[in-house]
Amino acid sequence: MKKACVIGWPVRHSRSPLVHGYWLEKYAIRGAYEKVEVKPHDLGGFLENLQESGFVGCNVTVPHKEAAFALADVVSAEARAVGAANTLWLEEGRLHASNTDIYGFMTHLSESAPHWKDSNRPVMVLGAGGAARGIIYGLLKAGIGELRLANRTRQKAEELAAGLKDMRERINIVDWEERGTALKEAGLLVNTTSLGMDGQPPLELSLEHLRADGVVADIVYSPLRTPLLRAAREKGCRTVDGLGMLLHQAVPGFHQWFGKKPAVTTELRNLVIADLGG
Ligand code: ATR
Repeated sequence: MKKACVIGWPVRHSRSPLVHGYWLEKYAIRGAYEKVEVKPHDLGGFLENLQESGFVGCNVTVPHKEAAFALADVVSAEARAVGAANTLWLEEGRLHASNTDIYGFMTHLSESAPHWKDSNRPVMVLGAGGAARGIIYGLLKAGIGELRLANRTRQKAEELAAGLKDMRERINIVDWEERGTALKEAGLLVNTTSLGMDGQPPLELSLEHLRADGVVADIVYSPLRTPLLRAAREKGCRTVDGLGMLLHQAVPGFHQWFGKKPAVTTELRNLVIADLGG
């Protein structure tokens, strides 16, 4: 029986066991997916013993994503670009690492708003934290011409952009105070900050300058319909919620560990929504 897990500290809030457990059952695969709490100073030892512990691989959540990347023997281009890994697997005794958040975001975006790129208009991204890095990399790799980036701490946006080397020239950093006016002509707006999440301050942003044919994506999934997505809907914009990214990022790991590319179904979405409390 193949066994995978999610490691984090803490890890009890992870929805990964629900998602992978659903797929194991749906495809009648003899396998298991567990939650393992690993303290930061135990990470190296845990990964060294992954095989002995009976695991074919694992997902990695906070605070281990950067350390797991650094400890892996082989890393994907995406993980290298972000400097963090969320999916690990063993291949001929070597630890491989990838970052499937990028795949998760881009796949969900293309499924929810297939024409998001057709207009070739600038893309506006809010935030320059860990989540932003992967999303910005994915958007630039997809070939967009201009990415406007606004972060409360401008210095962090500068550093993130500098790390993207040859893609840097397509990033236009704008002041946080200018985030509303910088929406002019934007074809896509992405919130990668935690603003708007339950228990966090709201995202203060006027959508006055955004065109009604623009697309608005939020990585916040609790609540599922964030105030930003509601305001975008009211304007007539197409919206992309944060839950799809969470579900789609799990696909490559499951495929790698259990040999079946799973489907993100409405049934799975509803299962996770129910678990999130409605
Ligand atoms: P994650 O890894 O989930 O992206 P993070 O690295 O802590 O989390 O990043 C959080 C993002 O939300 C950052 O862009 C942060 O802005 P700063 O770089 O200025 O900290 C942004 N953020 C959090 N609280 C904010 C607030 N009250 N106003 C504006 N931006 C905020």
